[in-house]
Amino acid sequence: MQNDVQQSLVDAARRVRLRARAPYSRFLVGAAVRGESGALYVGCNVESAAYPLTCCAERAAIYAAVAGGETRITHCAVVTETASSPCGGCRQVIFEMGPNCEVVVAGLDGAARVVSIRALLPEGFDGSELPR
Ligand code: THU
Repeated sequence: MQNDVQQSLVDAARRVRLRARAPYSRFLVGAAVRGESGALYVGCNVESAAYPLTCCAERAAIYAAVAGGETRITHCAVVTETASSPCGGCRQVIFEMGPNCEVVVAGLDGAARVVSIRALLPEGFDGSELPR
């Protein structure tokens, strides 16, 4: 069961997923994040022929949020065909931008689960140990 905020994020992520550029993996991913301002930002995965340059959908959405002036995110929705969980790298970036972020993982069949970023990334590195 999803609330209205979660549902609107999943809907946006499902729509933007269709814009993914994934000619190599053919694995389309859509993401939508909600900034602390309440605004919504979307992203899809963009693959490169130089494979490591690929950008995941979650990070694309977060980068759009940063460009939009957000310093924190409160929610992140990810839509894939198989309702797959965010990769480790994206978990790190989600955690840094939203240590209390609620992550909604959804598939194309409408099934969705909600999990906190702290559950996905226990004892995450938040940079507080870095020298100033
Ligand atoms: N991908 C994402 O967009 N997000 C994830 O969390 C996992 C993987 C993309 C990267 C690549 O384009 C494709 O899915 C297969 O790994």
